[in-house]
Amino acid sequence: MLDVNKIYYGGDYYPEQWNEEIWREDMRLMREAGVNLVSLGIFSWAKLEPKPGQYQFDWLDRILDLLHTNGVLVALATATASPPPWFSRLHPESWPVAADGLSYKPGSRQFYCPNSVAYREAASRLAGEMARRYGKHPAVWMWHVNNEYGCHVHECYCPVCAQAFQEWLRERYKSVDVLNDVWGTAFWSLGISTWADIQLPNRNTSYRNPAQVLDYRRFMNQSLLNLFKAEIDAIRAAGADQPLFTNMVFGLKELDGFEWAKYQDVTAIDMYINPANGKQAWKEGAFWHDLTRSWGRGKPYLLVEQTTSQVNWRTVNSLKAPGTIRTFSYQALARGASSVMFFQWRASRSGAEKYHAGMIPHYGVDGSRIFAEVKQMGAEFTRLEKLASQRIHSEVGILFSYENIWALEIDSKPAQLDAWNMLRPWYHALIEQNIPLDFVHPDDGFNQYKVLIAPLLYQLSDAQAERLRRFVQTGGTLLMTYFSGITDLNERIWLGGYPALLQDVLGIKVEEWQPFQPGDTNLLSVSNTSIKCSHWADLLHTTTAKVIATYTQDFYAGRPALTKNQFGIGTAYYAGTLPAQNWLSNWICSICAEQGVKPLVKADPNVETGLRTGTDGASTLVLINHANEPAQVNLLGKHGRSLLDDRVITDELVLDPYDVLILELES
Ligand code: GAL
Ligand code: ZN
Repeated sequence: MLDVNKIYYGGDYYPEQWNEEIWREDMRLMREAGVNLVSLGIFSWAKLEPKPGQYQFDWLDRILDLLHTNGVLVALATATASPPPWFSRLHPESWPVAADGLSYKPGSRQFYCPNSVAYREAASRLAGEMARRYGKHPAVWMWHVNNEYGCHVHECYCPVCAQAFQEWLRERYKSVDVLNDVWGTAFWSLGISTWADIQLPNRNTSYRNPAQVLDYRRFMNQSLLNLFKAEIDAIRAAGADQPLFTNMVFGLKELDGFEWAKYQDVTAIDMYINPANGKQAWKEGAFWHDLTRSWGRGKPYLLVEQTTSQVNWRTVNSLKAPGTIRTFSYQALARGASSVMFFQWRASRSGAEKYHAGMIPHYGVDGSRIFAEVKQMGAEFTRLEKLASQRIHSEVGILFSYENIWALEIDSKPAQLDAWNMLRPWYHALIEQNIPLDFVHPDDGFNQYKVLIAPLLYQLSDAQAERLRRFVQTGGTLLMTYFSGITDLNERIWLGGYPALLQDVLGIKVEEWQPFQPGDTNLLSVSNTSIKCSHWADLLHTTTAKVIATYTQDFYAGRPALTKNQFGIGTAYYAGTLPAQNWLSNWICSICAEQGVKPLVKADPNVETGLRTGTDGASTLVLINHANEPAQVNLLGKHGRSLLDDRVITDELVLDPYDVLILELES
């Protein structure tokens, strides 16, 4: 059903912004650029349904036919991302309300309350109409459902949501007693007597009940997911059976990508790396690519949007340096994507995003450096068909769940935790060592992994702990960090020394912790060397674990900081603090090596690597130099043929500044 035997290349296409003469030029330039896929109709609701129930599809028919004639596939949007002004006028109850209790006003996009019944019905109706009309159209390869759910409105505090929250809780807990127990309301006199007592958690006098806040985040995720599911149902009910996806936006923490992936044929991401972050910027991109691929648990995924150069929405919008449109596009291929796409095909003339770059700039194509790079990639991708069907196979997993992040972000903790960024050092350690990894949901299978890393896995259920125990017992290696296994899935602490459920596996018991004041550090003594550590220090007791490192400063000097425990036939490491990045990176590399997991290559920093392997066992190595200086790479015995220029490469090589190498490996 899903043909991923070539690299899909293209972008968002908004023909409604242009006259039909320009459409014809677009077709010529798409062919010239090697474009074979566009997303169409994303914000076309007002044009497709200018008045309630009155549809105007003729222009869409014409452009679809034109694209088809020109060999361009379409990811057809359901066009529901931005309800038209008539909808907002007729349905004032659908206006979203911010945390301060004030309503937003129409005039931008994504203007709807996630629980608005009128919006859900209108969006489903339009999705159904689209699917009925285009479900068999030969150009329509996929459905692009809505657009970036939750990007602007991922919470709402309107009366409709208040009511829906009560209903959602009633469904979840069935009885008020159960809710009181789970929420721990025997505190500050918060016990509720009836469902109607429950309010939304905004504008509170002091700290809110953490379990209520967590449930609110779950509820909002579910409310948006219900909108997605309603559109899916409408598409399928109309008999359209093309594969479908919705594109998530990079940086958004509010939607549980693992859960949403269950309803999509491919996962999809919109990626807006800040070029101003220089040669480190690729690590942010790598993180989101790995996450998007991992949501789908091995399914192919799409890079649906990125920019060819500037965006319009940062305080200062930097250009992408020459060569980096290409390096950031190849990053998607290095990490397993099936497509490289941009927002947008042609830079707009008017509207809020007219200063946003496109594949065709305002300048035009002749002599344009952007279009030249765009064209170069289009030509190169035709040589990479084999790569498209190959997948990433990782033996290392980082345990990651959105609920865990949501729980960590709730206030009144030992310290205000920037949970999202606190995971990064553990992730960076792996990518800096060129070791492939997946993010793994703690409820998913661990079988394919040899090493699991659990950074700040704050929440842990009985069942999850049991599966981790079995993983180690049967030979796996677990590395768990500070502030893990502290609570159940509802903000209730596991008593008896943290992390209570895994004390035996780790051979330790944490008694207290010292979160560091900003900028503070301590020193670790590790086999007679001294390493800086930061963020946090657990004060722990070992039971069966061996001590790898101790603190050397402050009142807890001499106490264990890093430990190692044999459990069953596996090994469990514990890090009670965050060691300096260089050391951490090497440490994780040696932990992986104990399990036979080796780096793909050895390379200068800011070389990114990915390995894709096909069902036939053939592999392709993607190497990217993200720095503006030459980079050394040692292939560690691998050799192969460069797919872009047929060079045969063995052992050592130098990558030019901002260059890529795609190597078909020979075994
Ligand atoms: C995305 C969005 C696009 C466009 C783009 C600009 O988040 O899906 O429609 O707004 O950002 O960078
Ligand atoms: Zn609402």
